[in-house]
Amino acid sequence: MSKNRNILVTGGAGFIGSHVVRRLVNNYPSYNIINFDKLTYAGNLENLSDLESRSNYAFYHGDICDAHQVKEALRKYEITDVIHLAAESHVDRSISGPMEFVQTNVLGTVNLMNECRAFWDDLKGHIFYHVSTDEVYGSLGDEGLFEETTAYDPRSPYSASKASSDHFVRAYHHTYGLEIRISNCSNNYGSHQFPEKLIPLMIHNAVNGKELPIYGDGKNIRDWLWVEDHASAIDTIFHQGENGETYNVGGLNEWTNVDLVHELCSIIDDRLGKEAGSTAKNIVFIKDRAGHDRRYAIDATKLEQKLNWKPSITFEEGLASTIDWYLENQEWVNNVVSGDYQEYYKEHYK
Ligand code: NAD
Ligand code: DAU
Repeated sequence: MSKNRNILVTGGAGFIGSHVVRRLVNNYPSYNIINFDKLTYAGNLENLSDLESRSNYAFYHGDICDAHQVKEALRKYEITDVIHLAAESHVDRSISGPMEFVQTNVLGTVNLMNECRAFWDDLKGHIFYHVSTDEVYGSLGDEGLFEETTAYDPRSPYSASKASSDHFVRAYHHTYGLEIRISNCSNNYGSHQFPEKLIPLMIHNAVNGKELPIYGDGKNIRDWLWVEDHASAIDTIFHQGENGETYNVGGLNEWTNVDLVHELCSIIDDRLGKEAGSTAKNIVFIKDRAGHDRRYAIDATKLEQKLNWKPSITFEEGLASTIDWYLENQEWVNNVVSGDYQEYYKEHYK
């Protein structure tokens, strides 16, 4: 039997957060799940419209950098635990505007922990779970995998801000006794991902007959994990992980960007009844991302062996179902790409 918990999920209206919130609301009816989100361009309550009438779900519109709002949410919902996903998450945006990443990812995380410390008189039994990224480890050569013991070597403003927040979370554990979990996950893909990220951007552009922009030579490697499998890892680590421990999350699924985009194009040709090879004709190689990390690859042995977690589906299944979701949810895509995103796209890909 799981005990009653009132969990504040920050960033619950975002891509990964919405999958985590839905999983917890559905699987743990005795918990109350509070989605605390600022609703930036990346946050969208439509992602969770199916949960609106659920008695164990609530939304609080707040900014993790605002001490008053965090305090109020902690008190109002008598929060027992935090799963912290709120962040600025897009590497390209961190290159053109690093300060927002420092503000939200570093200061916001510290502010959140300060308010938790003040609210939980006795820190014992309260979990502060910080969701982080494999990008804190830097960039790999042709061989090797990131392990939990790999030295931090962040190289973009985004990864530097996430690395800094990881350090602060560990510092609060060692200094004040905050009970923490940290996980560092590889690239996620799946439904409801904002179409600035590689996979949904390519699907959206392919459907609209636009160019498919690949940075540099396209040989950079990412290690892709289905978002539902990341959500199941977060669930597992939250419930079974040990205080103070870090867990890498990934599915041993490395792809060069160019191979991945070709794979995606051939599924889209098939789904739209187009001649094989026609979507891929729109691939263009454009100026590389500044400081572009060459290769990420995660060793998730600790999570698999100690907590018995493993991914549930193959990449082929996940990619096909993701493409189908985007094809069936064009209205969702059109809503999120209207407005500011058009300006961002014009500026970034000009
Ligand atoms: P996202 O950009 O889709 O969503 C971020 C959410 O945080 C949005 O709902 C946004 O409104 C909210 N938010 C932003 N600033 C806020 C603030 N100041 N206060 C409250 N809410 C705020 O991000 P995502 O891809 O879902 O990533 C979620 C977390 O997982 C991030 O911490 C990210 O670093 C980490 N992560 C992402 C990936 C990935 O592949 N996307 C992989 C590993 C780890
Ligand atoms: O590794 C985990 C990280 O994965 C997360 O922490 C980040 O929040 C998430 O955004 C993601 O970062 P990446 O930079 O790897 O993801 P992105 O989708 O932006 O890019 C994936 C790869 O595709 C990368 O090598 C850059 C390349 N790319 C991306 C875009 C948007 C292109 O070639 N063209 C593009 O237009």
